[in-house]
Amino acid sequence: MTDITASPAGYDIHNPSITEADNLLGQYIPIHYHFQMLEDQARMTGFKAALNYLLADGGKVLDMGAGTGVLSFLAAQKATKVYSVERQADLVECANALLTENGCGDKVELVQGDARQYLPPEPVDVVVCEMLHSALLREKQLEVIESFKQRYREKFGGTLPIFIPNASILAVEPVSADFCFQGYHAPIAFFEDPGSLSTRYLSMGETKPYAILEYQADNAIELSFDGLLSINENGCFNALRFITKNILAMNLEQGSTIDWMNMNLILPIKHPIDAKAGDQFQVRFKYDAGGEISSLINAIEVIKA
Ligand SMILES: C[S@@+](CC[C@H](N)C(=O)[O-])C[C@H]1O[C@@H](n2cnc3c(N)ncnc32)[C@H](O)[C@@H]1O
Repeated sequence: MTDITASPAGYDIHNPSITEADNLLGQYIPIHYHFQMLEDQARMTGFKAALNYLLADGGKVLDMGAGTGVLSFLAAQKATKVYSVERQADLVECANALLTENGCGDKVELVQGDARQYLPPEPVDVVVCEMLHSALLREKQLEVIESFKQRYREKFGGTLPIFIPNASILAVEPVSADFCFQGYHAPIAFFEDPGSLSTRYLSMGETKPYAILEYQADNAIELSFDGLLSINENGCFNALRFITKNILAMNLEQGSTIDWMNMNLILPIKHPIDAKAGDQFQVRFKYDAGGEISSLINAIEVIKA
């Protein structure tokens, strides 16, 4: 999804079944934010194209984290059966009504539950799961998929379904950020649209991947980087840009991929440094996928090499 779960305003104080921990851990997304996800053209066309490409006519699908049910709907255009699970009761009610209105209520079996515990009653060909957030923080994409694979193998044997996305690539780069707003200095976490990079956050050097997570393979929840970042522009090195690119599908015939990028995440470093082209910095961090943004901010270490 986009940056919406970053908003503390996302916590619904009127819904007593949602605890503060749910909100903090990015598993509660109020229904009005789903509009932004439906409107996100890059996301919607990417998932539609990936489902069209990877799902054979008559196949079976599992949609984990159904939300409004839109990915179940897209899958149902080719699938004979779509199993769907969503944790939030209000969303399940909404999605069931929308799926019926959109003519696929019979094909889609949507249940309320935790995707970390749910399994479909029969094997599926494709699993679609969009619990993606910048740097794979907050939302539980990795935890949900790792748990699913273990339980699915135990119940149905060794062959895993195809996952959409196929993979996520995480990368980091040094940035000189203007954290000044009308004279007010506020070096805090910012989101940036990867489709139109802001002049506020200037790249100062090389971009280095720190994780390539193929969802069919076994992946550790802990993500880390310990490497050198080279500077190629003079300036104040005061932030890191975290880039999250999701490979929704690989089109082998065309040698191309169907991609969707999460918002870039700009995180300030503790001690800004006047850097010169040619400088190198040892950068280290370690965090758990699904963790809070602050867990990554607090873990960042930058040392001049
Ligand atoms: C980013 S939204 C995507 C919704 C929908 N699939 C779409 O593409 O528009 C993620 C959804 O996953 C749900 N979710 C988060 N954690 C979950 C869990 N552990 N089990 C089931 N659903 C979960 C959220 O409530 C939310 O509706």
